[in-house]
Amino acid sequence: MTAATEFAPAKINLALHVVGQEANGYHLLDSLVVFADVGDRVSVTPASAMSVTVDGPFAEGVPNDARNLVWKAAERAGIAAQIVLTKNLPHGAGIGGGSSDAAAVLRALGRPDLALELGADVPVCLKATPQRMQGIGDVLADVPRCPAFSLVLVNPGAHVPTPDVFRALQVKTNSPMKAMPTDGDWLAWLKAQRNDLQGAAIARAPVIADALAVLHDAVLARMSGSGSTCFGIYPDRIGAEKAAARIAQNNPDWWVTASQTVGAS
Ligand code: C5P
Repeated sequence: MTAATEFAPAKINLALHVVGQEANGYHLLDSLVVFADVGDRVSVTPASAMSVTVDGPFAEGVPNDARNLVWKAAERAGIAAQIVLTKNLPHGAGIGGGSSDAAAVLRALGRPDLALELGADVPVCLKATPQRMQGIGDVLADVPRCPAFSLVLVNPGAHVPTPDVFRALQVKTNSPMKAMPTDGDWLAWLKAQRNDLQGAAIARAPVIADALAVLHDAVLARMSGSGSTCFGIYPDRIGAEKAAARIAQNNPDWWVTASQTVGAS
């Protein structure tokens, strides 16, 4: 291979239903997953020895060794590489982070087959287009009519470990998502769906409820993944940018950004 630089977009669960649990403890999901125009950047250059360098606004606390999924991805592919990871996204935040970075490495190395063994969210991150995600994350289907959405992403800084949130779930057999619109109102449909992890995440990190509250003027506000990042959907890009500016001004310690998601092509 030659050197490659890949974009690792933020993953947003617009809806996330927990519909069961497998014998090995993993949960069965039904989720609408889309990708944003904000993300990390990963460059992969073949080298004689493996190395990971982390830079960018969220570099602090990100491991630069075999604990990092980008390292594991290259290692599983049997390729020594010099990897430079620019962390623009908060990590452990419900928006893909490490999974999208690992998917970017697999894309650069042409090894999509290794995705699932690196994590349940890595296969969907490899697609980077709107997907209905089922099973434990391994059953994916294109969502051909999914539009692009104007969002505000708000991360209030709480780190909620995914296993803890799943473990705290009281009910693990919730209803699946309703049939998606064919040509109709996606916002009405989305409002009728849920994130089944939201209550358990808020119980652990009440500041998530504050993040949802500041999105009061959004058409819909919900948590992504196991949190703590929340998104608000706005009618258009300008509305999202105005709301992001207001929220950022009032909450200078939070990560706040306006973003467009990628619609189905
Ligand atoms: O696969 P990944 O390492 O990203 O998952 C992190 C944790 O989230 C798992 O160890 C598991 O506790 C939980 N999880 C789950 N069911 C899924 C995906 C993740 O219980 N479908």
